[in-house]
Amino acid sequence: MESKKSHFQLDTSVTYLNCAYMAPQLKVVEEAGLEGLKRKRNPFQISPEEFFGETDSLREEYAKLIHTKEPKRIVVIPSVSYGMANVAKNLPLSEGDNIIVVGEQFPSNVYPWREAAFEHGAEIVTITPPKEIENRGKIWNEKILNAINSKTKLVALGNIHWADGTLFDLKTIRKQTREVGAWLAIDGTQSVGALPFDVSEIQPDALICAGYKWLMGPYSIGLAYYGPALDDGKPVEENWINRYESENFANLVNYNDDYQPGALRYEVGEHSNFILVPMMLAAVKQLNEWGPQNIQNYCKDLVSSGIKKLKEAGYKIEDENYRSSHLFGIRLGDDHNMEQIKQRFEEENILVSFRGYSIRISPNVYNTEEEFGKLVETLI
Ligand SMILES: Cc1ncc(COP(=O)(O)O)c(C=O)c1O
Repeated sequence: MESKKSHFQLDTSVTYLNCAYMAPQLKVVEEAGLEGLKRKRNPFQISPEEFFGETDSLREEYAKLIHTKEPKRIVVIPSVSYGMANVAKNLPLSEGDNIIVVGEQFPSNVYPWREAAFEHGAEIVTITPPKEIENRGKIWNEKILNAINSKTKLVALGNIHWADGTLFDLKTIRKQTREVGAWLAIDGTQSVGALPFDVSEIQPDALICAGYKWLMGPYSIGLAYYGPALDDGKPVEENWINRYESENFANLVNYNDDYQPGALRYEVGEHSNFILVPMMLAAVKQLNEWGPQNIQNYCKDLVSSGIKKLKEAGYKIEDENYRSSHLFGIRLGDDHNMEQIKQRFEEENILVSFRGYSIRISPNVYNTEEEFGKLVETLI
């Protein structure tokens, strides 16, 4: 794959290596948003069918991206916290049970479990990374697997760690959760789009993603996949559009006690957002065209030789087998000074995220070898 810079309008005076913060806007996404905005000039041109049809197209497109044959298991959500709240509301929990999360997980994938655990007298078990630098990812994964036991009712984590890109072995974790009857909820926000995800292989109970990072969509829209375990559950809100036969606008006040079948009950109210949905659809179409594996390979080619140089210069970066190439952390060696590095990045207009003694780098298809080379030179 070649650089896709021309598909964006990113300011060329900056070296933007921070997609984990927010993706720049694809031109096709911007156009879709502008079209959506203009539609309400003439509301009579928005038909009742369109309240459902566009979201359905988005489900179908996203189903291709995450490899499920069941698009109706996918719903529009406004945020990861919302998507996880639906899981928390339906998770069977009793006193003494536990929920497993990993250390320093993103808060939207922590607060819902803390609340649920508090309510039912259950416990949150946090699996922190090992102190070792050698085999860190491998040992961390082993610690997670060792923690899953008959008290575990949920394992909630990302496909990768949002701060340093450590890869979690979801396939083995899923196998172990099945053995003890625990649910698996995955926050795919920092991976889906740039790293292949196969729902048919992992079979998570929930896969929740914000749309504005690696899915290249706008802010305030995300996508949730809910598996069969949640089919008969209760949504966090009681909106009319999720009720059975809500398509029949003339019949809405003949209130219906049934929800739309399966996961559709969990979709956010006013999901038919005539601006955000077409933007998200344009983004997911583009990702399907490029392919997450090609995007990951592009990032890998971009960073591999630079990472070798950085390691030789004393920086500590996880081995390739246990980290992604679109998002990874660089920890400083004893000879490096964080304040000086921050200052040099500012002078060179290099944009990344800083966390304690580590730097989070997150390139994507609009970045070039020269840009990553500039980062490496600035660090060495
Ligand atoms: C891993 C991860 N999950 C979720 C989010 C966003 O959560 P929410 O949509 O609840 O604001 C972020 C934002 O940085 C994130 O990095």
